[in-house]
Amino acid sequence: MRPKLTTVFVCQACGAGSPKWLGRCPDCGEWNSYVEEVRSREPQPAAAPLAASPLTEVAVSDAPRIATRMPGVDRVLGGGLVPGSVVLLGGEPGIGKSTLLLQVARSLSAAGGDVLYATAEESAAQIRIRADRLGIREERLAVLAETDVARVVAEAEARNPALVIVDSIQAVREPGLASQAGTVSQVRECAAALVRYAKGKAVPVALIGHVTKDGTLAGPKSLEHLVDAVVSVEGERGSARRVLRAAKNRFGSVDEISLWEMTGEGLVEIANPSAALLAERRRGLPGSAVTAAREGSRSLLMEIQALVGPSSAGSPRRVAIGIDAGRLSLLLAVLEGSGLPLSAREVFASCAGGLEAREPAADLAIVAALWSSAHGRPLPADAIFFGEIGLLGEIRTVPAAASRLREAAALGFATVYLPAGNASEASGFTDVSARPVTRIAEFLQAIGA
Ligand code: TYD
Ligand code: MG
Repeated sequence: MRPKLTTVFVCQACGAGSPKWLGRCPDCGEWNSYVEEVRSREPQPAAAPLAASPLTEVAVSDAPRIATRMPGVDRVLGGGLVPGSVVLLGGEPGIGKSTLLLQVARSLSAAGGDVLYATAEESAAQIRIRADRLGIREERLAVLAETDVARVVAEAEARNPALVIVDSIQAVREPGLASQAGTVSQVRECAAALVRYAKGKAVPVALIGHVTKDGTLAGPKSLEHLVDAVVSVEGERGSARRVLRAAKNRFGSVDEISLWEMTGEGLVEIANPSAALLAERRRGLPGSAVTAAREGSRSLLMEIQALVGPSSAGSPRRVAIGIDAGRLSLLLAVLEGSGLPLSAREVFASCAGGLEAREPAADLAIVAALWSSAHGRPLPADAIFFGEIGLLGEIRTVPAAASRLREAAALGFATVYLPAGNASEASGFTDVSARPVTRIAEFLQAIGA
């Protein structure tokens, strides 16, 4: 039977389809986003009926994970690569995606696994130059410069590697589709072909995906639904620090992060993230308070900074960077009746160092920083603050206080202001003097004394 040719118009912003061209997408509202695409499709065979089986008879392949032997990668993945799973590594161009996966490839191949690195974006020689820079000489690492996704899959089937890397999903094509690489339907079809390969052969596949300026993955939203895990590489311009973070993970937690530094020899995991995050802290300045925040299964110390401006007419500005704007408003409202009225003053508050402190446990540090800035008085340099503040000014218990205390003690902090409900967890820390607090007014008195 001849394959049927169909013409469809697909919105490049959201993936919605239409039999005719539309000036504006009725689904996402984007203008001029419809592109004509020709699909040649083999007719699908009818699905066999009664294909389901009793749940108790489903075989559970509890295949062990493949450790990449890069601790910061394994932790974010939830313990390593799951055979047959597809991981999407997203990030802005130039952030270090190819570098990271080449390092993963080296680590796996050095441990005896074959890795296929399919490059559709750069030439094999360009990959070689990067590999030379990283000092990679693994013979088990094979490079294939290829944009045709079917040939990538064929090569993978012939080699049966321990990992397949596709750099990038926006640069490979399914030749059966008329549209260009990077369009919604190409990205979707190519990802689907690679997912089929991964599931069929129980081989993990890592896809590199570019992120557009607004921070979303180029291509359809459905790409994120097709894959098992979405991991992003983040970092700020001009800074060598990178954060690896799981945004979605079918096989693990999405809270884990790892911190890295881009060096002359690739990405190096930062061994002591708390120390790195506090490295630029200036002791003795008003408006700075350190908190112990949770990131996945770890506690990290972060500096909260606040700047309280003079009274201004009209509605004063409130700016929150790296902390939750809603929580900042809530805290200001609570402070209004608790001895620190700031409603007429401009307030800026941020989490320094590029990470975010969005959990309520940062409340106490935010309030301490606000108080310190408003009074022009620095907080004790060896003090740390964590605790959630309720609407009535009560200081509420937070999870994992012992882990936060351990991190504070490890970095030499000697005084910890914490919720009274967590005080018992501080008893084992002999180097740390615990200052349990129950109400915000009492807390402000304690730090002001
Ligand atoms: P790259 O991995 O090519 O980024 P992506 O694949 O996300 O586009 O890395 C790009 C940048 O990293 C580039 O500016 C060069 C820099 N770099 C280093 O600083 N050290 C290194 O060892 C390598 C390989 C790259
Ligand atoms: Mg790249």
